[in-house]
Amino acid sequence: MKLLWKMAAVLVLALWMIEFVMSQPQANLINQGCSQVNATSEFFSNLNATLADLRRQLSINRTHFATAQLARSSNPVYAIVQCRNYLSTADCVSCFDIAAVDIRKYCRLVNGARVIYDGCFLRYETNRFYGTANALGNAGRCDNGTIRNGTASATSYTAVVEALLSDLVIATPKTKNFYAATATKVAPGGNTTVYAMAQCAETVTEIECQNCMNVALENIKSCPPRTGARAFDAGCFMRYTNTPFFASNQTINISRYLRSGGSRNKKAIIGGVLGGFGFLLLVLALLLRFRLSRKKRISPRGKLGSTELQGPVTYNYKDLKSATKNFSPEYKLGEGGSGDVYKGIVKNGNIVAVKRLALCTSKAKADFESEVRLISNVHHRNLVRLLGCSSKGPDLLLVYEYMENGSLDSFLYGGKRGSLNWQQRFNIIYGTARGLAYLHEQFHVRIIHRDIKPGNILLDDELQPKIADFGLARLLPEDQTHLNTKFAGTLGYTAPEYALQGQLSEKADTYSFGVVLLEIISGRRCGDTNIERDTDFLLEYAWKLHDNNMHLKLVDESLDSDEYQAEDVKKVIEIALMCTQSPASLRPTMPEVVVLLISDRSLERGPLSRPTFVNSEDRIRDVPDVPPPSMSNATATLSELTGR
Ligand SMILES: *[C@@H]1O[C@H](CO)[C@@H](O)[C@H](O)[C@H]1NC(C)=O
Ligand SMILES: *[C@@H]1O[C@H](CO)[C@@H](O)[C@H](O)[C@H]1NC(C)=O
Ligand SMILES: *[C@@H]1O[C@H](CO)[C@@H](O)[C@H](O)[C@H]1NC(C)=O
Ligand SMILES: *[C@@H]1O[C@H](CO)[C@@H](O)[C@H](O)[C@H]1NC(C)=O
Ligand SMILES: *[C@@H]1O[C@H](CO)[C@@H](O)[C@H](O)[C@H]1NC(C)=O
Ligand SMILES: *[C@@H]1O[C@H](CO)[C@@H](O)[C@H](O)[C@H]1NC(C)=O
Ligand SMILES: *[C@@H]1O[C@H](CO)[C@@H](O)[C@H](O)[C@H]1NC(C)=O
Ligand SMILES: *[C@@H]1O[C@H](CO)[C@@H](O)[C@H](O)[C@H]1NC(C)=O
Repeated sequence: MKLLWKMAAVLVLALWMIEFVMSQPQANLINQGCSQVNATSEFFSNLNATLADLRRQLSINRTHFATAQLARSSNPVYAIVQCRNYLSTADCVSCFDIAAVDIRKYCRLVNGARVIYDGCFLRYETNRFYGTANALGNAGRCDNGTIRNGTASATSYTAVVEALLSDLVIATPKTKNFYAATATKVAPGGNTTVYAMAQCAETVTEIECQNCMNVALENIKSCPPRTGARAFDAGCFMRYTNTPFFASNQTINISRYLRSGGSRNKKAIIGGVLGGFGFLLLVLALLLRFRLSRKKRISPRGKLGSTELQGPVTYNYKDLKSATKNFSPEYKLGEGGSGDVYKGIVKNGNIVAVKRLALCTSKAKADFESEVRLISNVHHRNLVRLLGCSSKGPDLLLVYEYMENGSLDSFLYGGKRGSLNWQQRFNIIYGTARGLAYLHEQFHVRIIHRDIKPGNILLDDELQPKIADFGLARLLPEDQTHLNTKFAGTLGYTAPEYALQGQLSEKADTYSFGVVLLEIISGRRCGDTNIERDTDFLLEYAWKLHDNNMHLKLVDESLDSDEYQAEDVKKVIEIALMCTQSPASLRPTMPEVVVLLISDRSLERGPLSRPTFVNSEDRIRDVPDVPPPSMSNATATLSELTGR
């Protein structure tokens, strides 16, 4: 009898616990989204198999993150599930079960869907989306409650939340599984605590995670002193509250990720553990590797490693000459400040773009190979890959990947004018911003492009932008990098402080980006003055429209007004104007632009500061409210320039 009672009690407890788990706010739905495209029944049976696979991984392998796909079928399915790492396996599986039911309920019949909960998210698509962290539709939501006095003041709560979230932004991408959770008392001895966590999908890169965290922070940073908030995106999640949503033993000490010496510590530990004999082995291993890598350099066609590790390929000059039909004019793709570009069909049938550098100074030749090695290490989906070079022939040649769709200028005001819709234009703006942000802040050497213009933005076959011609400016002789005759032609893209005073910073690229952005929206060339009944250049015209709150007049007439939301376009125009402000310090950095472009917050800022307007006749037309330093100097330089 006693035993029966005990069993009953256990059963009741178990039931209560299940109830407890199910009623936990962890299954609180935050966001859902469905594709617009209907799928076939084969797709759904593939989907069922894929979801079953995900569940198996969560419950049997006890993971918190899983991907599954039926990629080779004619109706491919790719799916991801991720639980917050503080959940137990049982809670994770029950969150998944709720998600698997909901996703079929909310998104019946379609071929792509996502559901996001406090405790987990589930998403499926027809294409391999695993590397995507940021997507349109990201957002932040503040809780309704506000911190009231008594436990802590709103001000100190806000300060603690802000500090905690920015620590998470830094730490999360550096953790092993892109997850961090922390709890901090607002005041010592008080009883208000901030609980915060952040997480990225484990299939994104550290840089993508970082970008996603930046956007998430932007989306909720204005929430405190609200008691809590959540930010979600395609590949990351962030949340804070004043009530615990994970157990106190689930926090992670993130302080070691916040100090720059963090990774050095790790190495020291490894060294200590290895010790004596281990150390000897390590030295041997390194020696072996060194010898191997030397060998590799001698025979680049060896089987060691991938092409990425082999660095740039050295091409034979004669081969490239015949690949371009002896640099025939019919193979010419374009010409730029640093040389002409030709289409080349190399021996294996691949198509490449060959750039013949116009500069053949001895210094350029000496720097050439180290520059090429550096540039060929730049890998980013929005930057054109440098495949290799030829330095032994009469000209220095660079070999790039070939872009079928050519450059952006032909889509804006060339033969393909008017063929881009709003979404495609936005993707080009966003991708270009990301490529530049990578060059400025994420590659280990800061690269300033100096010549951002539509002719240097190439489009791949999916109309994704890839920036070309970066890193070459370092090969140009010093006095040619600015103030040369060719310069005047693209003055419209060049930041005034760089054009007039030669002051170069990455903010010069921000300026050019802003001008290109206006061109993408308006479909007009920045140097053209024939804008209806107005002789202003594009940038001045945009500022005037901004002053009169008539932004939408700028929009390309070939765009269908049903395709875009007026606020979205206005926001992008305002970002363009922010980018063209003077002095340069007022312009956002490119990583900031990336965040501004896709965060769902409207821009909150004071009045913008107009740039120095310079026209193509190299004459200052309009002295701004905030003149750049030493304007008289600038004028002197300018008259020198026009005197040439
Ligand atoms: C998808 O299928 C539903 C139901 O059969 C139908 O009402 C809807 O129009 C279809 N949508 C598209 C885009 O074909
Ligand atoms: C997939 O699973 C759901 C729920 O378990 C079921 O209703 C549906 O019929 C299944 N679809 C296919 C094509 O097997
Ligand atoms: C899950 O576990 C099974 C065996 O238990 C193993 O074969 C499989 O490789 C594991 N999957 C993953 C993704 O680790
Ligand atoms: C918060 O306020 C909004 C608008 O007043 C309301 O729709 C929503 O249900 C509230 N949320 C909660 C959790 O109370
Ligand atoms: C802690 O919170 C309770 C209410 O939740 C409040 O009554 C108490 O005064 C607080 N203690 C301190 C030290 O603030
Ligand atoms: C709330 O706290 C702030 C700072 O501690 C204090 O200045 C303010 O008077 C308090 N308000 C109330 C209503 O207690
Ligand atoms: C955290 O504490 C709970 C009991 O409160 C325990 O079951 C669990 O194993 C602990 N987790 C860790 C990671 O120590
Ligand atoms: C976190 O780790 C640092 C050292 O990395 C240590 O100094 C600090 O005391 C730790 N904090 C907690 C709360 O354990």
